[in-house]
Amino acid sequence: MIPVNEPVIGESELANVTECIRTGWISSAGRFIDAFEEGWASYCDRTHGVAVANGTVALRLAVAALDLQPGDEVIMPTFTIISCAAAVIDCGAVPVLVDADPETFGMNVTQVAAKITPRTRVIMPVHLYGHPVDMDPLLALAAEHHLAVIEDAAEAHGAEYLTSFGRSAPTWRRCGSFGDVSVFSFYANKLITTGEGGMLVTDSDTIAARARSLRNLCFQPTRRFYHEELGFNFRLTNLQAAVGVAQLARMPEVLKQKRWMGQAYGERLAGIPGLQIPMTKPWARHVFWMYGLVVDESTGLDAVSFAGRLAAKGVETRPFFLGMHEQPVLQQRGLFAGEHYPVAERLARQGLYLPSGVALTPTQLDAVCLAVREVLAA
Ligand SMILES: Cc1ncc(COP(=O)(O)O)c(C=O)c1O
Repeated sequence: MIPVNEPVIGESELANVTECIRTGWISSAGRFIDAFEEGWASYCDRTHGVAVANGTVALRLAVAALDLQPGDEVIMPTFTIISCAAAVIDCGAVPVLVDADPETFGMNVTQVAAKITPRTRVIMPVHLYGHPVDMDPLLALAAEHHLAVIEDAAEAHGAEYLTSFGRSAPTWRRCGSFGDVSVFSFYANKLITTGEGGMLVTDSDTIAARARSLRNLCFQPTRRFYHEELGFNFRLTNLQAAVGVAQLARMPEVLKQKRWMGQAYGERLAGIPGLQIPMTKPWARHVFWMYGLVVDESTGLDAVSFAGRLAAKGVETRPFFLGMHEQPVLQQRGLFAGEHYPVAERLARQGLYLPSGVALTPTQLDAVCLAVREVLAA
């Protein structure tokens, strides 16, 4: 079976982890934590990095650091991972949804303005599958209505967006550089990984200090075991950061591999009737975190049957997200009653992604494309 993802971990990761074990710095202090935070923040052109245990808690920490209150509203895409809604609900705030863009699968930014109410506090764009969200209209709305932006760049390491907002000339900026707070995941299927891991990046000294405190149970620097606020243990270990530091050095080759993959899949799969392949907007530099396909209903297939036929040919896939408004656990809470988002609903039923890891070989990619063609020709 050709796997959906396989990480590339090598000698430099091993050397760094070995150093942690030899020196005993295996917990959440140590030189690799600082180096990873500084390195990743600087890669994203941010002032501060706060490393945490995973991307889900990075979102939770972002929401907590912005002091979201019960009843506050956060506008987010329905087509995303549940971590986004969970972070908001966990602090008593309310997720408010918009549909997906049918071409990029990211949030439909034209629907955001209509969802702003006096209770709106945050807009949460999520860059999906490696393609950036159209940030300029969102940044303009956020500025106009005094809203914070929590940018979820978990799937968009190194992706870039051509922004004019606040600039005298259009400028390419990396995803993760746009939010008041921006978050990443370093799960094993991400462009760079620490196994499990995440990071919050920001330019705000206040948000960074608050996130650091909340990450570490709100311990006081001067008086140990004295707490004025409830925090979390969301710490990343030095062992994980040791992997992260070595992975960060791989970013240029990872991006090269991902762009080769995006182009090679595109060349081989373009023009197949009934198959939608990823596109790249002129204002975007895609990193193809995962190479997603949408199979048309006219083929007689949906994502489940398409995945089953590909699996029978030795190709592993994963389905697209199921929208937040279709999640039983959220509906049971009385959320999103009667709401429909047709683009997200279709993506959930007809979309899946192909093997897309950094270890994917040209031979594997050719075999995947042959399998896709055979399934759709049958
Ligand atoms: C867009 C997005 N946000 C957040 C997360 C959560 O990250 P983690 O799996 O590290 O908790 C993911 C996970 O893959 C994700 O895809």
